[in-house]
Amino acid sequence: MAQQDPEELLEMSTETRELLEENNLRPLWEVEDDFGNTFGDMEPDIWKWEDIQASIDGIESDVPIADLPPGFQRRVAVPINTALGNAISNTIYVGVQTVSPGETAPSHRHGANALRYTINGNEDMKTVVAGEEFPMEDNDLVTTPQWEWHDHVNDSDETAAWLDVLDLPLVLDSLNRKNVFENHELERQPVTKTQGYWDSQYGRGRPADEKSDGSIPGPFEGNREPTPPYRFGWDEMEESLRQRAENDDPDPHDGYSLAYVNPATGQEPLFPTMSFRAQLLNEGPTDPHFHNAVEVYFVIEGEGATHVGDEALEWSQWDIFVVPPDEIHHHEPDGEAILLGMTDRPVFEAFNFYAEAEPSS
Ligand SMILES: [Fe+2]
Ligand SMILES: [Fe+2]
Repeated sequence: MAQQDPEELLEMSTETRELLEENNLRPLWEVEDDFGNTFGDMEPDIWKWEDIQASIDGIESDVPIADLPPGFQRRVAVPINTALGNAISNTIYVGVQTVSPGETAPSHRHGANALRYTINGNEDMKTVVAGEEFPMEDNDLVTTPQWEWHDHVNDSDETAAWLDVLDLPLVLDSLNRKNVFENHELERQPVTKTQGYWDSQYGRGRPADEKSDGSIPGPFEGNREPTPPYRFGWDEMEESLRQRAENDDPDPHDGYSLAYVNPATGQEPLFPTMSFRAQLLNEGPTDPHFHNAVEVYFVIEGEGATHVGDEALEWSQWDIFVVPPDEIHHHEPDGEAILLGMTDRPVFEAFNFYAEAEPSS
């Protein structure tokens, strides 16, 4: 007797199929093929600064930001991975935001973790977080952690630009949560602390008489030490990076890399969901490797290429690019370059799922 085709065995009656469809159900054998597809389809891609800049200029000339309701008063261009349709990666969102002279991006807070990485800044461009004004000078990184009020105030006479980096796709898509969000009753939150206050709580010298109780702010619970409001000034980060390059051996895959640590713990990751490193590349091409975590890069300075699978992403200053999970990649700087590396690796590590290897030659 001839073997029956398995496909035929799986045939369902029209009635059953309709019943499933009506209830938004699909049998396992059909969805099996889709597992991991969103993930696997993510493409290596690059967004050139000149294109981002042109897009922002377009938004600026078309959209009267000041006339919009508070939650929308942000001039942002968002790199979109074509396979995903809503963000650069499946876990990490990156946007490029500008604030014109005299403008304020109104105060709000939300469940998603965020940070700002300054592209074009100055000491009178400030991100106000939890009552303190943090100056945003070039290449400074300022955390705006989960459920902390934050607004951006440009008291200078120059347009400022920075990267917004959030764990929104992870929260919204993967965990299927709402981004719990609240607008402040004031456009600018009151400045209640002097500059340097948060550094006095989490810098090299700290209050001797009290300890963080580790509680999570807002309507959230968890067992990770929350990330405090904090500014990582570039001068110190660059100095540490150059000390490493002067004295240490580079990592074969990432060059000389320096982690932005959670100031509350002194360790990576900066946020439970995202990790950040400044990477100095100056020793020719790195060794190829691959891993299941995604990597998003911003070019702090220099030029070169990152080879991802068969593609060469050729980058120069302020470009943004993405290395999808499981793609073999290596960096090839043209002389010296510094990258900001952003990854969702902490999510994998939290569940003992992180995997990394070199390709077998
Ligand atoms: Fe925000
Ligand atoms: Fe990598």
